Amino acid sequence: MALSSMTFAPLALLLLLLGSTSANLSPNFYASSCPKLFPTVKHVVQSAIAKEKRMGASLLRLLFHDCFVQGCDASLLLDDTSSFRGEKTAAPNNNSVRGFDVIDKIKAAVEEVCPGVVSCADIVVITSRDSVVILGGPYWEVTLGRRDSKTASFSLANNNIPPPTSSLSNLISKFAAVGLSKKDMVALSGAHTIGKARCINFRSRIYNETDINGSFAKKRQKKCPRTAGSGDNNLAPLDVQTQNYFDNDYYENLINEKGLLHSDQVLFNGGSTDSQVKTYTTSPGTFYRDFVTGMINMAAINPLTGSKGEIRKNCRKIN
Ligand code: HEM
Ligand SMILES: *[C@@H]1O[C@H](CO)[C@@H](O)[C@H](O)[C@H]1NC(C)=O
Ligand SMILES: *[C@@H]1O[C@H](CO)[C@@H](O)[C@H](O)[C@H]1NC(C)=O
Ligand SMILES: *[C@@H]1O[C@H](CO)[C@@H](O)[C@H](O)[C@H]1NC(C)=O
Repeated sequence: MALSSMTFAPLALLLLLLGSTSANLSPNFYASSCPKLFPTVKHVVQSAIAKEKRMGASLLRLLFHDCFVQGCDASLLLDDTSSFRGEKTAAPNNNSVRGFDVIDKIKAAVEEVCPGVVSCADIVVITSRDSVVILGGPYWEVTLGRRDSKTASFSLANNNIPPPTSSLSNLISKFAAVGLSKKDMVALSGAHTIGKARCINFRSRIYNETDINGSFAKKRQKKCPRTAGSGDNNLAPLDVQTQNYFDNDYYENLINEKGLLHSDQVLFNGGSTDSQVKTYTTSPGTFYRDFVTGMINMAAINPLTGSKGEIRKNCRKIN
């Protein structure tokens, strides 16, 4: 009896501590400390998207690239300095992730109404939700209470964020490594219903792959020359139908072999995720529900809570 309680007490404590990280996140976290938080964020996101539609996509993507590296801790937002290498120039991010100026504007507006209270990590979470809603996608309640890291990881940014050349099994394992399921992966990939990609990331697909619609490949080849190095940064929409509208077209494109990235089309090419893709083409409600679940799960990856980390004053640098 005495022996078993001695054995199990530390285990119970450990379970309590592990459970407490996401249990500490709550929709009401800033209810009294920053009651104007939600309208303040939404206002800035709205005007940024009104100015440039693509920005909604860019802001949504920030959550993915932040949360896959050390968890959702705003590590992505830290600028490089002469003595600090952050994540912004890692391969998946360099010349690609954008929207940092909008995050700065949101942070400044939030600091105006409640200085020193709201983390940059939570701002990224709220901003991603607002972007989806503004572009016509589903609404969901976000949980808050994350704190900001004092570190970043260039190497984890390179290792954890899957490249567009990924096979289906690589995608599944990169998501599993951060605790997300295959189902989450397929639903979250539906984010590619908005935004753009650079030629360098789809060149080999449009010239060399066979599971691609011929007229679609030709259309994309017009602004993406075959020769490596030429037109690398030319942009094309990820969703051939409605690049500024958050809908389920992405999955219809896959069924028609019009996925732009290799990593898009592998979700529908005879493998274990075909049936989920098919379901989303006929049931947008199921896609929205699973996407929201995926976003909530992704936003819960390894948050800093309690007295860990800090509340940054400026999202680009540690205090
Ligand atoms: C499944 C693995 C994924 C891979 C391999 C992948 C890869 C990519 C690539 C290569 C681009 C184009 C970047 C460029 O050419 O500069 C891109 C864009 C984008 N990704 Fe993903 N992605 C994945 C999952 C996700 C997830 C989970 C989200 C968010 C929930 C997301 C949101 C976006 C958005 C919105 C864009 C367009 C951004 C813009 O226009 O600025 N992606 N992704
Ligand atoms: C990031 O991109 C810039 C501009 O293309 C390039 O000069 C630099 O070498 C890249 N950084 C890394 C770490 O690859
Ligand atoms: C297509 O594949 C061939 C053979 O693997 C390769 O040499 C070539 O560079 C590829 N072309 C493009 C545009 O990726
Ligand atoms: C490819 O896409 C075009 C344009 O949407 C369509 O007319 C054509 O039937 C498609 N080709 C095949 C083989 O499905």
